[in-house]
Amino acid sequence: MLYYIWAPLLAVISFVFQRSPSNSINAIDCLQSSTDSLEAVVDCLDKYTVAADYYNQESYTLSQPNSTELTAFTDLVSSLLYVDDNCTSLHVPDSLSQHFRISLLSDRGENKSYCLLHEYTSQNGYYEKGWGFMAVPASRTPSTDVALHFSAPHPAYDLNTPQQAASLFTRTGARSLLITGRSRLALRNSTSCVHPSSNKTTYYVTDPVHDDNELFNVASKIIYKWQQAQGGCPSATCAFIQMHGKGVSTCPTDQMFLSSGLARSSSSWYTDDVDRPIKRLKAKLQQVFPSWNVSMPSDSPCSLTATENIFGRFINGIDAAHVCTTGSNASLATGEFIHIEQAAVSRAAESYGNWTKALKDTFGIERS
Ligand SMILES: *[C@@H]1O[C@H](CO)[C@@H](O)[C@H](O)[C@H]1NC(C)=O
Ligand SMILES: *[C@@H]1O[C@H](CO)[C@@H](O)[C@H](O)[C@H]1NC(C)=O
Ligand SMILES: *[C@@H]1O[C@H](CO)[C@@H](O)[C@H](O)[C@H]1NC(C)=O
Ligand SMILES: *[C@@H]1O[C@H](CO)[C@@H](O)[C@H](O)[C@H]1NC(C)=O
Ligand SMILES: *[C@@H]1O[C@H](CO)[C@@H](O)[C@H](O)[C@H]1NC(C)=O
Ligand SMILES: *[C@@H]1O[C@H](CO)[C@@H](O)[C@H](O)[C@H]1NC(C)=O
Ligand SMILES: *[C@@H]1O[C@H](CO)[C@@H](O)[C@H](O)[C@H]1NC(C)=O
Ligand SMILES: *[C@@H]1O[C@H](CO)[C@@H](O)[C@H](O)[C@H]1NC(C)=O
Repeated sequence: MLYYIWAPLLAVISFVFQRSPSNSINAIDCLQSSTDSLEAVVDCLDKYTVAADYYNQESYTLSQPNSTELTAFTDLVSSLLYVDDNCTSLHVPDSLSQHFRISLLSDRGENKSYCLLHEYTSQNGYYEKGWGFMAVPASRTPSTDVALHFSAPHPAYDLNTPQQAASLFTRTGARSLLITGRSRLALRNSTSCVHPSSNKTTYYVTDPVHDDNELFNVASKIIYKWQQAQGGCPSATCAFIQMHGKGVSTCPTDQMFLSSGLARSSSSWYTDDVDRPIKRLKAKLQQVFPSWNVSMPSDSPCSLTATENIFGRFINGIDAAHVCTTGSNASLATGEFIHIEQAAVSRAAESYGNWTKALKDTFGIERS
């Protein structure tokens, strides 16, 4: 009740704040204050995620890249993937250097080093740009061809997925970690990219899973192209794993729901005798979480099948120019894309150990 009395006043205050041009810019010091683990850095940065309803049309437009910045960001993401013992020699172009930095992080807990691309300025407590955070190992390990790519597209909404993705990235010795810097609700305007096919609520402009202008989606495609340039993404050793979280009332009997972005009518793709990473991962996850329901579309009527996920569509053979409007199908899908919807218990820190075991068993990663 009190909320309703104060809500209009709060709305006016936040309106004034959003529009005020004099808001000071502050440094984000997640790397100065917590150099002990990548997970701690990600946890610190998570608080700067541009919040729901933060943008208006004008501030959103101002925070999007112009063509120079877009090219520079794209090049930087690509260069980051090629880092091999030379992280600190990566140069951030002038057009980005006011906002982004490349840093070498020595994770003492993991006894490994990572090269990070991160935004270091905030306004009103949030990233000024919100284009995202990326990490790769600081040096390449010649002895392994395992190439896992973790991402978290819905921070501040699918809670704890950035922390979980960071933890699984370090524990499995994965190739890349990508986390967007904005809530999917940061600008609550319908995207002109994907229009939901069912009578679901609309998708918004700042949702990188359904809007192709979000930098998370741009970076995802660069990571995919890099993997292609390494000779592709073999089923035995490689996958693009996108971490999501679902609410308690959505598909409540599935603690985990895995999908590759195909429509329910293609469910036989999940049960045929072709080896696919998603099938192995499902089986291994079920082994380490024996009392849970670990499901795929072939096991459960859950509707979260990711058919409208634009990076999923791209990986599954749809041209980048058509990902907003065209779904993939069973004859195009490779199985490289693994979309995981999870109950809170599956995203919790207590589950990281079992998760790691399942991932290592799925992709033949050496125990250390
Ligand atoms: C870092 O080293 C790799 C491997 O030698 C090379 O391909 C890449 O261009 C180098 N990057 C920079 C920024 O010097
Ligand atoms: C884009 O913005 C950057 C940084 O403010 C600026 O240096 C550059 O000139 C702009 N480029 C274009 C094409 O507007
Ligand atoms: C950390 O790595 C270094 C170099 O590979 C190794 O000598 C050292 O024993 C490792 N420490 C731990 C605690 O694993
Ligand atoms: C957001 O909605 C406003 C008001 O309906 C409209 O003027 C604006 O063009 C929309 N912006 C985007 C990016 O769709
Ligand atoms: C559409 O919404 C109505 C009312 O919420 C619901 O009964 C119906 O099952 C929905 N249809 C689909 C295809 O989701
Ligand atoms: C697993 O699914 C079955 C069938 O839907 C359900 O009865 C059971 O309660 C579920 N188990 C858990 C732990 O949610
Ligand atoms: C995780 O694995 C351990 C060791 O096998 C097991 O005791 C525990 O029950 C598992 N956790 C869950 C939630 O299944
Ligand atoms: C799969 O999708 C592609 C691209 O949209 C289309 O050309 C092809 O006919 C589709 N195949 C099937 C079996 O639907």
